[in-house]
Amino acid sequence: VKKQIPRDKCIDNTFTLLKEGYLFIQNRTERYSSDVFETRLLGKKAICISGKEAPKLFYNPILMKKKGALPKRIQKTLFGVNAIQTMDGRRHLHRKKLFMTIMNQEEQDRLSKITTEKWQEAISRWEGASRVVLYDEVNRILCQSVCEWAGVPLPASEVKCRAKDFSTMVNTFTAIGPEYWKGKKARKRTEKWIRGIIEATRSGKLRPGRNSALHQIAYYKDLDGKLLSTQMAAVELINVLRPVVAISTFITFTAVALYEHREYIKILRSSDENMREMFVQEVRRYYPFTPFLGAITRKNFMWKGYNFKKGTLVILDVYGINHDARIWENPYKFRPERFSEKREHLFDFIPQGGGDPSKGHRCPGEGITIELMKLSVDFLVNKLEFKIPEQELRYSLIKIPSLPKSGFIMRKIKTRT
Ligand code: HEM
Repeated sequence: VKKQIPRDKCIDNTFTLLKEGYLFIQNRTERYSSDVFETRLLGKKAICISGKEAPKLFYNPILMKKKGALPKRIQKTLFGVNAIQTMDGRRHLHRKKLFMTIMNQEEQDRLSKITTEKWQEAISRWEGASRVVLYDEVNRILCQSVCEWAGVPLPASEVKCRAKDFSTMVNTFTAIGPEYWKGKKARKRTEKWIRGIIEATRSGKLRPGRNSALHQIAYYKDLDGKLLSTQMAAVELINVLRPVVAISTFITFTAVALYEHREYIKILRSSDENMREMFVQEVRRYYPFTPFLGAITRKNFMWKGYNFKKGTLVILDVYGINHDARIWENPYKFRPERFSEKREHLFDFIPQGGGDPSKGHRCPGEGITIELMKLSVDFLVNKLEFKIPEQELRYSLIKIPSLPKSGFIMRKIKTRT
């Protein structure tokens, strides 16, 4: 039977979305008792979808495409203009293979090794410091690590400002006014730097390792057998560097989780890697990072009795699906044990998108994210001792992307013996 999609009455809901943040879709699916509703965002009709079945529709490449889904505002800060996130079909799959190759198991292990060394170096600096903000420090650790891994030279004197630019691109993409301009400026500065690195590589002045992201992207040829333009190569290399630095958000939430659920510190100390993995999986589910994702319908079709017209913007409720009581028992309880059964989560656990990453738009960096988070758990529970002073550890479900306010301040840091 054909059903009418509940319609959210409004001229445009963009500001309401910014006011309600991560809960915007959930608030309405509850109000209308429906996993599907229609609204208007950025001056366009949009259909929001949630619930267990929604990711399967959203990641169906016959029904959905990316072209036209990503607002230019977001491309100009977060992703870069016309990058892989906006591509479809054969051209997308060809480009995606490049990213999957860059992040293969061997390369993932190499990045973990470099990151372990940088953590170790950072700890020796922290031991004398009166106070350390974990978010800022991990930003720098990851920025140094990913640049070294990718083959991008980064002088010690530049680590702080480059790391800051990467995190600014991520933290300002929903901002308006001066904050948003900061994000655009950070991207402009980073693109200029990385264009120079691509040029230096192509002219032979820089000789990065064959498997490094820099080498792979500088010499990648698209379906037509052409090299990427310098600008496009820079944008795609930044699509490797920036998200690795952004793992600092999840690592800061990991520290908050250990603080809020201290019973796990002991458990993690006396258990194996499996427990660490369960813990970080629950951090990726429970804490807010990616709010929603967008795609455009390729044709007219029916889904669950509802009519979807060709060319409609569809928004997937990532945060809501990770907190849906029909999928997760007591979703607002932090319980790593829910991940004790190790299995593939193609469509039911989507903090970094759903489906098969080599066939669709799901994040190619999930393996790296999980590994670098596990490594941080090991440092936080097994290798470090520290005090946690009074501070504002709360985080907002309204501000997108979210982050604990204080960034997690640590004092009296010592190596744990
Ligand atoms: C795509 C989240 C880490 C590289 C995505 C998508 C999400 C996401 C939600 C979009 C899926 C879609 O459009 O359907 C995250 C989060 C991360 C993270 C929350 C944790 C910090 C990484 C890392 C890398 C990476 C470490 C690279 C080393 C990418 C790329 C895409 C992507 C290149 C575009 C894929 C495509 O369009 O085919 N990520 N990601 N991400 N991610 Fe991640």
